[in-house]
Amino acid sequence: MCGIVGYVGSREAVPVLMNGLKHLEYRGYDSAGIACLNGNRNFFIRKEKGKLSVLQNVLKSIPITSHIGIGHTRWATHGEPSQINAHPHLSHHGDIVVVHNGIIENYSELRQELKRHGYRFHSDTDTEVAAHLIEACYKGDLAQAIQKAVKRIRGFFAFVVMARKEPDRIVAVKRSNPLLVGVGKSENFIASDVSALLPYTDRVIYIDDDELVQIKAGEPPSIFDLKTGRVKKKPVSKIPWNIEQANKGGYPHFMLKEIFEQPEVISRTLKACVNLKKEINFEGLNGRAKTRLKKTRKIFFVSCGTAYHAGLCGRRMVEEYARIPTDAQVSSEFRYGDPVLSSEDVVIFISQSGETADTLAALREAKRKKAFTISIVNVVGSSIARESDAVIYTYAGPEIGVASTKAYVAQLLTLALFSFYLGRLRQQLSGLEVKQLVLEAWHIRAGIDAILDGTKSIKAVAKKLYRKNSFLYLGRGYNFPTALEGALKLKEITYAHAHGYAAGEMKHGPIALIDSSQPVVCLVPESKTYDKMLSNMEEIKARKGIIISIATKGDRLVRKMSQYVFPVPKCREIYSSILTVIPLQLFAYYAAVFNGRDVDQPRNLAKSVTVE
Ligand code: F6R
Repeated sequence: MCGIVGYVGSREAVPVLMNGLKHLEYRGYDSAGIACLNGNRNFFIRKEKGKLSVLQNVLKSIPITSHIGIGHTRWATHGEPSQINAHPHLSHHGDIVVVHNGIIENYSELRQELKRHGYRFHSDTDTEVAAHLIEACYKGDLAQAIQKAVKRIRGFFAFVVMARKEPDRIVAVKRSNPLLVGVGKSENFIASDVSALLPYTDRVIYIDDDELVQIKAGEPPSIFDLKTGRVKKKPVSKIPWNIEQANKGGYPHFMLKEIFEQPEVISRTLKACVNLKKEINFEGLNGRAKTRLKKTRKIFFVSCGTAYHAGLCGRRMVEEYARIPTDAQVSSEFRYGDPVLSSEDVVIFISQSGETADTLAALREAKRKKAFTISIVNVVGSSIARESDAVIYTYAGPEIGVASTKAYVAQLLTLALFSFYLGRLRQQLSGLEVKQLVLEAWHIRAGIDAILDGTKSIKAVAKKLYRKNSFLYLGRGYNFPTALEGALKLKEITYAHAHGYAAGEMKHGPIALIDSSQPVVCLVPESKTYDKMLSNMEEIKARKGIIISIATKGDRLVRKMSQYVFPVPKCREIYSSILTVIPLQLFAYYAAVFNGRDVDQPRNLAKSVTVE
């Protein structure tokens, strides 16, 4: 949440900052701002409420020459979205300027104290406290001032700071919230995530908690341990993504581009995890991970939102193919639920961004209780990936659209492969069985291509139904999580009310909603529970509900019972949720477009939720 960028070097800073913020806007978009230092050691600060384009328009008419600056795009926590609350924040005497991602928990106490010392506050934010506090600690050395100030701050943060009297450097510090340095030739960058750096460099240094980093032009970044002040040597890593992947590539929205990238995601995942002999192998699972997985008594999947729906599928996959008792929980419940864990358990954290605050906290809780931790993460080098005992990367590539699509599909396939891998490790599956399963996985790509070929008819149905403001989604087995995911996609980008249910639960309450105006999306591909789904559909039909079915291609029975059908190719049940979610993503997308919604930046949401 919130995007941060900083630059020092020989380029003009403003275009670099604005371009960085453009790539970060998916992290928050209620206001944006930049601060630069010019040759006269004066801060130029400009911030605006609203999307980045508002700031961009204002800056067009102001020529600024500067080679050092910081920028921010905000997702409000303390204080409503407004120009005053937008970052950067200037300190009382104008010596320090700060951008911040996170929450200062003791801000009210610090604010009172600073007020008693004559500091005046202009905004409602916790960040302004940090600006004043750093200034109060400043004696000519910014790094030292930050080190001192941070000792007083409780909470989670990434601060990026400039001092008027030290115009050659940017200093940053982090605890919990993501931060990385981009290393260039005679120039350096700082950002809250890699997408801001991709246009300029693929060489990065990941900053860990309680590290302070100082960047200048023409010098390698220096990193210090916040507590001891000692210099730390850190490796420079290479980002495995390129800038083309982070652009819209001719599509009107990132979400649509990402939906259409899904066939490629399937191929990439299979190429990365399956060798020529059709054996499954995960690069990140070392000997220790294998031993723990062989012996584990229970597996937990822990994640949020869409990744939680992947966890629900993962749970079923592992139980079916590896026969290990498995649970799936949302991170916020798991972390505060005092989970019963021991060194005999394995906890698997699923996250696209690798930065979700609740999932990170749940990971720390599991480690504290000595469980073995594995993460399934899309962003290389993210906090969750770095802190877990072992990591399996997904191969979705950068996901920019706020509504997750290709990352989900990558998670589902990775989880299916993981369950076969575990099944083999625990001798529940023979080598031959795994080969057959993998062989069938290669057909998923063509299956998704076929569904995407039918986009026009999905769009036509969306056009008929987009004004409805309540939807029910029903599914069973592997497609119960798809019902949840389909409903989540629709509500987050159209703002219509949508609810996913296990179809067997319909009679226990939701059936009361059904009348001739109620659309019900039924996930009814061939499966063990196909007949049960048909009975549910009969019940909906008897009450005149509008049935939209996702069914196996050629299923005449379902066609007869439904007003609309989105066909999916026939496949093994474990793979069905990878296919059935695709029409639901497209349906949500077009319903949002017809409603005139901002698909890639829906209201109140941000791509990665780095605050609790
Ligand atoms: C929904 C969506 C969110 C995320 C959730 C977890 O489309 O994107 O529900 O799935 O915030 O995020 P990650 O996977 O980054 O931990």
